[in-house]
Amino acid sequence: MGIVAFDVRKDEIPYFRKYSTIFGLDIMMVKESLTSDNIGKIVDGDSISIIGHSKINAQILTSLSKKNVRHISTRTVGINHIDVEAAQHLNIKITNSYYGPDCVAEFTIMLILMSLRKYKAAMFRGNINDYSLEGLKGKELSACTVGIIGTGAIGTAVMHILHGFKTKILAYSPTGKEKEELKSYVEYVDLDTLYEQSDIISLHIPYLPDTKHLINIVALDKMKKGVMLVNTSRGELMDISSIIHAIETQKIGALALDVFESEQDIYHHDRKLDIISNRDMAYLRQFPNVVMTQHMAFYTENAVESMVKYSLQSFISNTCNQS
Ligand code: COI
Repeated sequence: MGIVAFDVRKDEIPYFRKYSTIFGLDIMMVKESLTSDNIGKIVDGDSISIIGHSKINAQILTSLSKKNVRHISTRTVGINHIDVEAAQHLNIKITNSYYGPDCVAEFTIMLILMSLRKYKAAMFRGNINDYSLEGLKGKELSACTVGIIGTGAIGTAVMHILHGFKTKILAYSPTGKEKEELKSYVEYVDLDTLYEQSDIISLHIPYLPDTKHLINIVALDKMKKGVMLVNTSRGELMDISSIIHAIETQKIGALALDVFESEQDIYHHDRKLDIISNRDMAYLRQFPNVVMTQHMAFYTENAVESMVKYSLQSFISNTCNQS
């Protein structure tokens, strides 16, 4: 079976070599994302591996279907870059990959701690030999109530770590499922209660049509003044104009974002010398209480190996991984 892997980063290549040998797969690696310009690299009946940068819309899917592509495996956990419904109509199988939740969970905790201890401002000061303390007084996690939206693998891993900090933890489960093993230290609440009572709110839900812009002006109105918001899930969960207004009016006390709406073609690329078109991203980045990272919460040795391994394994076992 022929496989064309798109969006292949240098650091993934050793894992592609390792697992194509183990699974006996013939793989062509392509650095660029899959677009209508390079679709010619695919030959009749190939399968495809991609990452979140390739936008697999109905038009691309139709072209792939004409080339008898029957399986697209994304090396990500999230599948919001693929028009899954169109794929189903065209009888193209979509599988996602798997990696353990600790990479994102630990990064989330890092963002919370950086924000609580005002480390962005402290780090910038240190770089110019300014060792003053004024304005850097922080808070301890044990003094905070943290609200976790989404209680899947990552949300649960975040709560496990937070438990060690003696934090009060509130959780909202969109599916209504409650995990018995969490109940000794987590209080399940409805979304409004979580908004009203949390000092810190962290998002761990997928981007779906009904979660788009969940954090909007209405939700923000229900939150405490000075709330900290953390998003390591998907930028589309936040209505960015409401977020900007809430930062400007100091309703939000701290914001930590590893993801951003319309981050595609910016994050994971070197854009130092380019004119970047995402104004909101540039505007928000300058605030001392806003920490922004380039969608890298997943980016650990274990996770990258796992993303390649399970993507390739799906071509031989036809499995779909869910976190
Ligand atoms: C995912 O696996 O869903 C991620 O967010 C990782 C990223 C490479 C898109």
